[in-house]
Amino acid sequence: MELQDYLHASVQKVDHALDQFLPKASAKSATIHKAMRYSLFAGGKRLRPALALAAAELCGGLAEDALPAACAVECIHTYSLIHDDLPCMDDDDLRRGRPTSHKVFGEGIAVLTGDALLTIAFEILAQAQATPRHGMAALIRELASASGSRWLIAGQVLDLEGEGKPVTKAALKFIHESKTAALLTCALRLGAMSANATPAKLQALTHFGHSLGLAFQVIDDILDVTQTTEKLGKTAGKDAAVTKATYPALFGLPRAREIAAELTKEAQGALAPFGKKASLMRALTGSLLAREY
Ligand code: IPE
Ligand code: IPE
Ligand code: MG
Ligand code: MG
Ligand code: MG
Repeated sequence: MELQDYLHASVQKVDHALDQFLPKASAKSATIHKAMRYSLFAGGKRLRPALALAAAELCGGLAEDALPAACAVECIHTYSLIHDDLPCMDDDDLRRGRPTSHKVFGEGIAVLTGDALLTIAFEILAQAQATPRHGMAALIRELASASGSRWLIAGQVLDLEGEGKPVTKAALKFIHESKTAALLTCALRLGAMSANATPAKLQALTHFGHSLGLAFQVIDDILDVTQTTEKLGKTAGKDAAVTKATYPALFGLPRAREIAAELTKEAQGALAPFGKKASLMRALTGSLLAREY
């Protein structure tokens, strides 16, 4: 299947599943359920769910079996964006081409919407099927660890603390690994676990996810400099405005682009154990380097 067709089909499956997993917009309190759906169905790329489904298939399983994990990760991701955009964090007005949650619903509801999406992620993941190699406790631990204080939150904390200060290359790499690569890797691992993946396959996907995730955040930093707000669906030029620690800021744009390309190559190399079966994942990885939003 062509990559674009695969991604399109994946978005459809994930959107349908998310709609099923989420309480109706009219469920009490309607405010919170409207707000959850507002951000969740705002037109994100759905990259993490696509990675989960593709990883399941790469490991010989069915995309359908990875849907709870895929949706759980997307809920965590969306919660992290709602909080990331708050005035006390990156203070952004635009996300996924729409006014941010706090602009529409107010800060209090935006905080609670993030909380609700974080919580429902685990309720959704609990509906996944355990496999002989990977029990429910392992799945829950996987998601909790990637989104917790050792990874995603650690990255967000250091990202905030790094604003306006000189940050070393190693520290910047750690921020990007934590705030972004950990959850991408988690999506891949959970997808693979739904397919009863062997430890060797999980290891290969972990290596892949690390490089892919790092590349993804370096490219996000680059796009902040090179793209328009309209194209991004979020305000361009924000990183420089608040002197965020980013790859273009630390290395310059040309070198940041080289690093993104190197990391992409590394990620594709990490798929070697899967041979020809990984051609879709390889194409997906390549396409992210060329993305414009
Ligand atoms: C944005 O993620 C935040 C980062 C970790 C770079 P995405 O670029 O995947 O955002 P959506 O889901 O498409 O909105
Ligand atoms: C966001 O990084 C990472 C998380 C939300 C965990 P950024 O702050 O660079 O993401 P954007 O640019 O606002 O999407
Ligand atoms: Mg941020
Ligand atoms: Mg931000
Ligand atoms: Mg960014």
